[in-house]
Amino acid sequence: MIAHKQVETLLVQSGNRTDDQKTGAVSAPVYFSTAYRHPGLGDSTGYDYARETNPTRDVLQNTLSKLENGVQAFALSSGMAAIQLAFSKFKTGDKIIISDDLYGGSFRYFDDLHNNYAIDFITWDGQDFRYLAGATADPAVKAVWLETPSNPTMKVIDIHKTAAIAHQYQTEVFVDNTFYTPIIQRPLDEGADVVVHSATKYLGGHNDILGGAVVCKSTENAELYEKNLTTTGAVLDPFSCWLLIRSLKTLPLRIEKHEKNAQAIVTSLQENPLVTQVLYPGHGGMISFYVRDENLVDAFLRHLQIVSFAESLGGVESLVTVPATQTHADLSEEQRQTKHITKNLLRLSVGIESSDDLVHDIQQALQAAATTLTTNKEGV
Ligand SMILES: Cc1ncc(COP(=O)(O)O)c(C=O)c1O
Repeated sequence: MIAHKQVETLLVQSGNRTDDQKTGAVSAPVYFSTAYRHPGLGDSTGYDYARETNPTRDVLQNTLSKLENGVQAFALSSGMAAIQLAFSKFKTGDKIIISDDLYGGSFRYFDDLHNNYAIDFITWDGQDFRYLAGATADPAVKAVWLETPSNPTMKVIDIHKTAAIAHQYQTEVFVDNTFYTPIIQRPLDEGADVVVHSATKYLGGHNDILGGAVVCKSTENAELYEKNLTTTGAVLDPFSCWLLIRSLKTLPLRIEKHEKNAQAIVTSLQENPLVTQVLYPGHGGMISFYVRDENLVDAFLRHLQIVSFAESLGGVESLVTVPATQTHADLSEEQRQTKHITKNLLRLSVGIESSDDLVHDIQQALQAAATTLTTNKEGV
């Protein structure tokens, strides 16, 4: 992993010295042009048409690639578009091992690939490596796909161990690194082959950009994905690229504060008798927790004054979601029960507000919810 200071410098300097008009602009220019004039027949400036390449997107992609230590990065119009690009190398009959606790939209897409394109998915708990070795030995298995920490139950999966086993059978490892970001975890350095991100989350960080990224370690994958992305076209627009370059400059600072706030909230939740279990993977700004009674949930959400009840994560504003009815609503009740995504589970994306204010807001809303519940019970 590159030292913290180097990451900070890399991100803050991103876009500086890229303006070839020699203006000295320290912020990367935004190129909105979709067409690029050719100097002559068979001659190109390197830019022809915006679906293929764009100078602002190039600045962003170079930064993302360095940040994840890959050979090439692709900036896409959403995290799901990134996942779709990553999957564009698989064919009917391929089998993919997936960790069992993923973003609900990934499950929805994988169901679609299974039902309409006959790609098979094998679920793995992310912990049983003997099982992984057995399953990977099947030559039809082409990849292991995982999120760590997992979503929403925060299980940590050993990427290094996963890659060591998968590579014995020429199976590639894909990691959705949305939750931890390369500031905390760099999957390619730990042996993974491809990293994807919903850049809508921590990379964007302000709840105002929808974007995604794919970063590859091998030039073979980079060439294939470049071709596939040019063909299908879900590239990130120039203005969002520029916003993302700007956001990345503060990523290390934001992650530091998200984590510090999260640790204060974990402590306070652990001490609250209305909370039965707190799930925190040790780093980052994501916390899940179970409240004592699912009937507390609605009143808790209604009483929050700082944390917003909204479906996303990774932004400077704190958000809370109810995975069972939001991010994982498309799973069957049985699937949710198996994954412990019950109606009393809440997922908190801790923002960068004052930790005292956040702790106070969550505690007062829990207390108010308990009072409401008691009053309702007494009223019955
Ligand atoms: C871990 C993870 N991966 C991928 C996605 C999909 O990203 P997007 O909403 O940007 O398409 C999400 C969205 O919540 C996510 O949480």
